[in-house]
Amino acid sequence: MIFTVAIDGPAAAGKGTVSRAVAERFGFAHLDTGLLYRAVGAKSGAEGDPVAVARRLEPADLDRDDLRTAGAGQAASRVAAIPEVREALVAFQRLFARREGGAVLDGRDIGTVICPEAEVKLFVTASDEVRARRRWIELSGKGDTLTEAEVLADLRARDRRDAERAVAPLKPADDAVLLDTSELTIEAAIARAVAEVEARM
Ligand code: C5P
Repeated sequence: MIFTVAIDGPAAAGKGTVSRAVAERFGFAHLDTGLLYRAVGAKSGAEGDPVAVARRLEPADLDRDDLRTAGAGQAASRVAAIPEVREALVAFQRLFARREGGAVLDGRDIGTVICPEAEVKLFVTASDEVRARRRWIELSGKGDTLTEAEVLADLRARDRRDAERAVAPLKPADDAVLLDTSELTIEAAIARAVAEVEARM
């Protein structure tokens, strides 16, 4: 069975949690595409030219522990605005999306660019304040010392860059279902996503 669930949205809206749960529930493979850009951003800090880094990216590069920091997120959104970096990562993502057995991909452009033919498209959002609070709790738990206000400013800067870039900007596909998680528990958000998948299987 070929079946793609595309989950897009801004930073810290709950895409990752919802994606992992949907993948587990239906036995689909999951790809967090933000990790690709985070890995390119982190590696090009040390090695230079992000385009060359993107062309040489290997699965092992996604396993680094330092890819989840706020700094890595900012570096990711800078390299993600370079068209040749995005192009270098398209083929891998498309193959993953259409692999046998079903796939969930989360990112910014999955429903619009990577897999417009996805069977299910969700655009997951939440208010800026809710997203900042969630991300701040997550980062604090890992020992990060950023304040909640700094996390909010960081998210807004990244969202602005992601939404305003010329190539594959952050925006819902015309046929995406909007899922605002501001007022939802994790369980309720997952239940809505699962219902969307079931309705189209
Ligand atoms: O989702 P995450 O916060 O890990 O993404 C990090 C950055 O990677 C985003 O801010 C965005 O600039 C970029 N990205 C993208 N396209 C995707 C996934 C992530 O441009 N499909």
